[in-house]
Order: sequence, then C-alpha cells, then structure tokens
Amino acid sequence: MKKIIINGNRPLTGEVTISGAKNSAVALIPAAILADSPVILEGVPDIQDVHSLIEILEIMGAKVHFSQNVLEIDPREIVSVPMPSGKINSLRASYYFMGTLLGKFGEAVVGLPGGCYLGPRPIDLHVKGFEALGASVSNEHGAMYLRTDKQSLKGNRIFMDVVSVGATINVMLAAVKAKGQTVIENAAREPEIIDVATLLNNMGAKVRGAGTDVIRIEGVEQLHGCRHFMIPDRIEAGTYLALAAAVGNGIKVKNVIYEHLESFIAKLQEIGVNMTISEDEIEVFPSKNLKAANIMTYPYPGFATDLQQPLTPLLLMTKGTSEITDTIYAKRVNHVPELARMGADISVEGNLIITNGPNKLHGAEVVASDLRAGACLVIAGLLAEGTTTIYNVEYILRGYDHIIEKLTALGAEIQMVEEVEAE
Ligand code: UD1
Repeated sequence: MKKIIINGNRPLTGEVTISGAKNSAVALIPAAILADSPVILEGVPDIQDVHSLIEILEIMGAKVHFSQNVLEIDPREIVSVPMPSGKINSLRASYYFMGTLLGKFGEAVVGLPGGCYLGPRPIDLHVKGFEALGASVSNEHGAMYLRTDKQSLKGNRIFMDVVSVGATINVMLAAVKAKGQTVIENAAREPEIIDVATLLNNMGAKVRGAGTDVIRIEGVEQLHGCRHFMIPDRIEAGTYLALAAAVGNGIKVKNVIYEHLESFIAKLQEIGVNMTISEDEIEVFPSKNLKAANIMTYPYPGFATDLQQPLTPLLLMTKGTSEITDTIYAKRVNHVPELARMGADISVEGNLIITNGPNKLHGAEVVASDLRAGACLVIAGLLAEGTTTIYNVEYILRGYDHIIEKLTALGAEIQMVEEVEAE
C-alpha cells in the first residue's frame, strides 16, 4: 500500500503539461482489438488503468509495446479468452471488452467491471444496447456472457434512456462491424466519444454524428490498423486549473483544449479566478476576493461530475456559502468528511454539499475513497498548514499521470512512500 505525504501551504509556480485523456485511453485500447493489423496510439497517459488494460490485452494474445506515451497494439493473434474476473475487476472501463469482443468474435465472457465506488453504477443500458443488436446477454456468477446466433450482430435503432458515456461507446464498439445501420439516440456527447469515433473511422469504420446526441453507424466487414493521436485529459487539466487557482502563484497549464473545459472555466471566472486563455494553454494568476459559487453537475457540455471534487478545495477558499449538487452520482460525496477532518466548514445532505468560507485548512490523516476524491485531497493537502497524509493513493495513480513529479516540478513538497505493513 502506498501513501502520499504533503507539507502544505507553499505557493506553487511554473508549468504543467497535461497528459492524454484517461477516459479516452481506456476506450481506445479495447477498440484497437477490432482491427486486423497493428494500431499505434500516441499521447497515451502512463497511468495504472492503461497498464491494467495492457495486461488484459496480453492475456488475450495481443503483442503490446508501450514507451514514451506511444502504445503499439498488434491484435493479429488475439483470441476470445473468457475473462470472468482478475484484472477485469480492477477498473470500470474493462466493460469496453464486452463491446469489442462481441463485435470481433460474436461472443464474450467478461467479469463485471470494478472502478471507483460512486454509488450504484449499473450497466443495464449497455446490455439493452447489445440485445438490440441481436446478442443474448446473461449474468452468470458475476460475469457477463454475451452470445450471438450466427457470430454476427445486426444494426438497430437504440434510444438511451439515460445519457451514458460508457453505454454510448460500448454500443458504438459493438456496432461498427454489425450488419447494416445502427442509430444511437440520446447519445452522450463527451469529447472522448468523438476521440473513439475518430479512431474507429481511421480504422475504416463508418461512424457519423459523434459529439451530437444522434450517432449513425454503417457496419463494415473489416477494420484495419492505423495511427491515432489522442486528446488531452480535460479532467486532469481541470484538476490542475483548480489547484492553480487555489494554491498557485502563477501556473501555466499546457496541452489543453479550451473548448472541452468551457463550463468549468466559466465557473472559475464566476468565482473570480484571474487567468489568460490562449490556443492550447491557460495561465492562472493569483486571485483575490474569490466568491462562492453554486455547482450542478450534468452530462457534457455541462459541468463534469469528475471535476466537482477537485474544485471543492477552491470553493473552501471563497467567501460565503457554495452549494454543489451532483446530479450524476448522488453518492460522490466521500471527500466531505475527509475535508472536515482538515478543518473545513463543509457538510452534506444527500447529494448536496454545502461549504462556508473562507476556510483555513490544517494537515491531517485522510483517506482517498475514489480517484477524484484523491485529487481533491491532494489539492487540500497542498493548501493546508502542516502535514497531510493521504491513504488509498492507488486510486489516484489509476488516473493521474506522474502526479508526484508534476507537482514537485511546481515546487510542492510531496512524496509517495510505500506503507510498511504491521507484522
Ligand atoms: C464515465 C467516466 C467517469 C464519469 C462518468 C460521468 C469513463 C471510463 N468513466 O463513466 O469518469 O464520472 O462517465 O461523466 O469514461 N447509468 C445507468 N445505466 C447504465 C449506465 C449508466 O443508469 O447502463 C447511469 C449512471 O448510474 C450515471 C449516469 O448514467 O448516473 C452516467 O453514467 P455513465 O456516463 O455511464 O458513466 P460511466 O461511463 O460509467
């Protein structure tokens, strides 16, 4: 077990470069197995979720090489190995193998996905989508068994009852090789969905409308390898922007697509954060008289649920009362008691988080309950007077590329140490 130790309350300054998008990478990697020649992904973040997916690909027989953020996947020897448990349970996005294996082989056995606990995270929409394409799906002892009659899927019209990133991508992955046309209505519109569609089209697929709420897919017989440069991580960028606003003394965040962050940046401006925005970087300056603000999370292009927790320490610095309502994950509130342990005036009622500020935080021993809660506690630790120790940092390493190195380069006093287990 690892822990992070931070000596806080030092102004940070300098530049930080954003890595490739985790939520794209975890879909692009399973997507690559649909090709029948090598796929090269560039700009891939060096995070634990990527390493877990590489291990899964190797179990299936792919040849994989990952170095300097370039990931080469040769899927020619891949076979449909049943994966009822093991690595599959370590991350949520392993569910994308349901779509790709079904599309490639017409069958799959994939364990139920793991990942961060944010309250119930059903996959009923994924299942409904696969069934609409002609698959039979059953849950047998905690693993999903997906089968087709004649090893092939048939295009269909699918309306998503709830806007879901995962279900939209998964149905897209299964449908690119289905016979005929698939139309996904009420599709999610996240930039990561466009990134996956771009890769699939580079591989020879016919996907139109990604980024809108109607996606049309003409099935093709074969997909081939290609080279694809992936998008930067808007959630990592938002995390560093929030950090820069809360504890920075002039920080430039580089490799950012501003349009992916419009709702978040609008909120920073409402709070009174002083920044300049240029083509692919945002510089955040020290700001005074920060104002409280209310946040409601929504599907893209609304305020991202993944940025609700990393923004909370900044809200704690503002004067007045802020309310944060997470409409996507009602139980994404486990950072609240940890922040209270650090002296924050913060409370929670259902999915409504209330902060009163400005606060002075002090160091404490805290536990990261999930990936973005971990990022929130890192920012709080950097703000706090004294020493903060964060446990369960494996969550943070799932999604933040070289976080210790990036923060050290900004002048943070932060280290990761291996916990010695008691005898
Ligand atoms: C993705 C992101 C995650 C982000 C979330 C919401 C990845 C790997 N993860 O997760 O970081 O927090 O989007 O932006 O991309 N739902 C159902 N039935 C389903 C699927 C989802 O009811 O079959 C509900 C969920 O409970 C949730 C909402 O739909 O309330 C949105 O979830 P979804 O967009 O599917 O989240 P993920 O794709 O799992």
